[in-house]
Amino acid sequence: MSNWDKSGWRNKPRVQMPEYTDEKSLNAVEAQLSKYPPLVFAGEARRLRERLAAVSRGEGFLLQGGDCAESFAEFSADNLRDSFKVFLQMAMVLTFGAKVPVTKVGRVAGQMAKPRSAPTEVADGVELPSYRGDIINGFEFTEASRVPDPNRMLQAYTQAAASLNLLRAFSTGGFADMRRVHSWTLGFTDHDDAEKYRDMANRIQDTIDFMEAAGVGGEARHEFSTVDFYTSHEALLLEYEESLCRLDSTSGKWLAGSGHMIWIGDRTRQPDGAHVEFCKGVMNPIGLKCGPSMTTGHLKSLISTLNPENDPGRLTLIARFGAGSLGDHLPRLVRAVEEEGANVVWSCDPMHGNTIKSTTGYKTRPFDSVLREVKEFFGVHRAEGTIPGGVHFEMTGKDVTECTGGAIAVTDEDLSDRYHTACDPRLNASQALELAFLVAEELITGRKDVVAPAA
Ligand code: PEP
Ligand code: CO
Repeated sequence: MSNWDKSGWRNKPRVQMPEYTDEKSLNAVEAQLSKYPPLVFAGEARRLRERLAAVSRGEGFLLQGGDCAESFAEFSADNLRDSFKVFLQMAMVLTFGAKVPVTKVGRVAGQMAKPRSAPTEVADGVELPSYRGDIINGFEFTEASRVPDPNRMLQAYTQAAASLNLLRAFSTGGFADMRRVHSWTLGFTDHDDAEKYRDMANRIQDTIDFMEAAGVGGEARHEFSTVDFYTSHEALLLEYEESLCRLDSTSGKWLAGSGHMIWIGDRTRQPDGAHVEFCKGVMNPIGLKCGPSMTTGHLKSLISTLNPENDPGRLTLIARFGAGSLGDHLPRLVRAVEEEGANVVWSCDPMHGNTIKSTTGYKTRPFDSVLREVKEFFGVHRAEGTIPGGVHFEMTGKDVTECTGGAIAVTDEDLSDRYHTACDPRLNASQALELAFLVAEELITGRKDVVAPAA
């Protein structure tokens, strides 16, 4: 985009962004970040676009997921390892179960800025500014901690860089080797789906042993021993995004250097707003959250702004309507996309439309609603003859009790046991695995519908 400027968003109306009071330190942080290396490389963003283009044609599936909000306090090698394990397990269920190549994109290494439904929070009669994610202010309910502090961007960058470093090592250094398929199991996921996973792992192991014995493993060895793993986050804090924006010398295009894929949230997708202005100029794959208030007119205008060349792989529409409400919105948006002949990936976020307050006062998501929205998503695409390209989850490798239900049922009363999220409730490892099996089944059913001969 020739006349685009990485600071252009500053002239547009902005929402959900902090008002920094210490301008001097904000400028110093921006200057410092601008000199730091980008976290990702343009060639990787290009490769992810190619992968997503294949997904848009039905030749692959997008698995995107991770924390709602990464926090400074929960940053550790063990947490990264356990989330990565669940991710690999889910990807394996989809690859082996549904026989589709899976593009793996974590909500990680930068997912630290949060839009909020209200600017302030009240507790025990005290009103303070809302927590907006660790890259902006502190979770602790004190006046001092809630002041937006630009220096947090430097700590977020360091955490993102270290996370990405470990994830890259896991991806290529042997940890993700398919021959280790059994070792990704987490101790506490002992139920039917864990059993199903163990059976599948045995079959994978047998297949690999057979291929190696027959001498066909050689060329595939690299494919077996490494995975492509990409990072993503909501591009909410534009001072951070702009500071990490870099010109790619090979293509002459701008890259958001903060992560491979970035997305625009449901609250910040105003067609003439700051977030759309920033995202339209960078070459990364872009996600766009679509909630119930998305009109077909807005969607069409966003598609032409964000993907004027109609490049497949550039734009992923992430539907998040809520179980029972998806049917009122997704069909009209799918038809609008078809009318435009727009190339997009359709992905399903069954988390953000299903948040409720439990009887015990916790923000939660009933696992049944999550499952139901996924089924509804696949159902609409089957009815419309369009491609269900992916899923977008909030999950963790930890044995948390944040979403109710699942095979090892979490009740309203259980929520207080291990409720650790810094923001929205996440699926725990067993719920995530259960969901992966459901998605695999839906993909298999979808394929049967397509290939079944007419009676
Ligand atoms: C999120 O993904 O954490 C989020 C805030 O989503 P949405 O913009 O869809 O509400
Ligand atoms: Co969330």
